[in-house]
Formats: sequence, structure tokens, C-alpha cells
Amino acid sequence: MNNFQFYNPVRIVFGAGELKQIGSEAAAVGKKALLVSYADYGFMKETLDKVVALCKEKGVEVIPFYAAVANPLMSDIEAGVKVARAKKADMVIGCGGGSVMDTAKLIAAGTLYKGDLWKMMYSRHDSNATLPPDKALPILLINTLPATSSEMNCGAVATNTETMEKTYLFHPCIYPKVSILDPELTTSLPAYQTACGVVDSLSHVIEIYFTCQNEVPVQDRLMEGIMSSQMEHVVKILKDPKNVALRGDLMWEVALSWNGWILPGTGGFTPMHMIAHAMSARWGVTHGASLGIVMPAFMKKTWQLNPQRYVQFGQRVFGKKMTPLQVIAKFEKFISGLGVQTRLTQCKDIPANHKKVVKTLLDDCVRVYFGANGKLASLKPLSKKEVKEIIELSL
Ligand SMILES: [Fe+2]
Repeated sequence: MNNFQFYNPVRIVFGAGELKQIGSEAAAVGKKALLVSYADYGFMKETLDKVVALCKEKGVEVIPFYAAVANPLMSDIEAGVKVARAKKADMVIGCGGGSVMDTAKLIAAGTLYKGDLWKMMYSRHDSNATLPPDKALPILLINTLPATSSEMNCGAVATNTETMEKTYLFHPCIYPKVSILDPELTTSLPAYQTACGVVDSLSHVIEIYFTCQNEVPVQDRLMEGIMSSQMEHVVKILKDPKNVALRGDLMWEVALSWNGWILPGTGGFTPMHMIAHAMSARWGVTHGASLGIVMPAFMKKTWQLNPQRYVQFGQRVFGKKMTPLQVIAKFEKFISGLGVQTRLTQCKDIPANHKKVVKTLLDDCVRVYFGANGKLASLKPLSKKEVKEIIELSL
């Protein structure tokens, strides 16, 4: 096991009907909240109106900022920062899925940040230019789409459309103070969004499971438990979407995927997210779908580094003795069975010239995510040629 430090201060308020707590939670933090949600917020207007009313009841003024989009844009974060500063907000509430929560976190940090906000974001090709924030306004989150675990971690992702970079910030100052996980808010989620959320969440565990330098026995069991529970529950939810108990199980399982508990001591990497981010930055591929596409391709290219790991996955997650290639085929079939894309060419707006698609993605990966060693960090660092082969396998 690697040496590590562990810290996660997020307080979780979990349960059906717990949205009602948002007013008193906000009042404990301040007087004026910037409420961040989607630009197309119509489908959750009732929830947002409830949040505003609950806050008002407890003496907290709410400034609505409904501008977040899937794959959050730095331009929207800059706009939110302007509003938060002008209105002197003393907290940020994010009500939505991963993109809303990430937008809320970055606005909270950006409001207190001096200088170009893009410099807050991690940039491997130009790390000297990165200056992470060291403080943020208090962040309160209401998760309405289980997927990213943003509700329980200190990460946020954003895209800069000028430089075509989708990259991230991980810093303790953007841990939420509190996150409300109310499964009642997720019962009307469409099947595709529910499934994409689970594929994203599975990918967070899969990344570490198949790239870890050290197998930590308890982390193995935790990861296998999270994966098999999510896989079982998403299938049941797609048949019974209004089942609050199942939605609650899934909501908590998703929070555990990337809240930090699976990582300590493993020394795992996230190469699949890097390749997937390049797809989203270029063609707006839904985050979960981009991972549904990259995971099988990555596995096909790299399983020989660690075949026993795949056999273990087969035995403990699928409950069967299988070869690595059988495990990969079954996993890919599971993703497509949920209705999520497993090939880039199944997505809209992908150019017909596939050679050009491969070149564009490869150039973006090298430019944004490759390290100073000219490779993409993974269990065995991946060369440009290897990443090219993974992209080709994902078409
Ligand atoms: Fe993700």
C-alpha cells in the first residue's frame, strides 16, 4: 500500500424528503445565496422554487443564477462570479447534477480569486501557469442526478471553448460544507440520464481498479461492492424508475464512487477520463457516454498488463470464472444494454472523416493531458501510439 493522507469533511444529509433542510442549512452559513442551476431549468422549476421558498423562510435571500450547461463552460463560471461579486453573495448553492455542482464550486472559488479564472484549473502541459485557489465561498449542494460524486468531493471540471481544453480543479477549498441527497428528486430522471450517470460513476471505480499500482484488499472489496451494487440497482431502476428506495440506494453508491474512499494506498490513475474529456470538449459528448466509449477500448488495449485483475473482476462482480476478453465483452454489453453508447461513431456530430477524428483527439490528449515525459499517466504510462490505438478502438 502507498503512503497516503485522507481528508473528507463533507456532511451528508441523506433521505427522502430531506430537501426541506436546505433553508436551515443555508441560514447556518450566511444571509445571501447565489443559487446555481441549469440554463434550461424548466424541468426542475418546482424544486428550485421550493429551494428559494425554504431559504426565504429562514431569512436567506436567494439570487438565482440558472446558466449551467452539461460540460460546464468557463464563460458561464465567469458570468456567475460577476453576479456573486456584484450582489455580494456569501454562499453558493448548487441544485442539479454534476455540471451544476461543478459550476457552483468553481463560482464559489472564483468569487474570491484574483486574476484570470482559467488559471485555477489544472493544466498538465503548462502546469507553471496554474495557480489553484486557496479559498472559496461556502458551498451547499443539492444533488438531483447521481453520477459524478461531486456532491462529496473537492473536484470540479470545466471547458474553455477558446483553447478547446476540458480540465479540472481538485482542491480542498471546494469541498461542499453540506450536500443534500434526497432520492425523491431523482425519480423523474429520464432513463438515458440515469444510465449515463451510472456509467460515469462505474468508470470512476474502474479507472482505479484497473490502473492501481497496489492492490489494497479492503479497497478491492469496496470497489467491487460499489460496482456490483450500482450495476444491480440501475437495471432495477430502469424497470421501476419511481422506486424511491432503489433510487436512494443508487444515490449513496454513486457518492461513494469518487468521494475518496476507494483511492487511499492504491496509487491509481484516471487515463480514461482524460481521453473521454477530449471527446466532450470537441463534440459535446455526454460525460457518461464518453466513458462508456473509452472504457471498453482502454480495457482491450491494456488488459494484458494485469490479466488476473480482470479474472478477479469476472469472479467477484459478474460472479463467474471468465477470461479477461470475456469480461471486457460482457462489460461492454452491459453498458450498451443500458442504452449508453459504446462507440464514438454512435454519437451525433462526429465528423465522417475518422482519420481526422483520431488525429484531433490524439493532438488534444497530447496537448492537454500528457505529462512532461511525453506520456499519459496510467499503470504503465501510455505512449502517443498506444493512446492512438485506444482512440481507434473507440470509433
Ligand atoms: Fe467522470
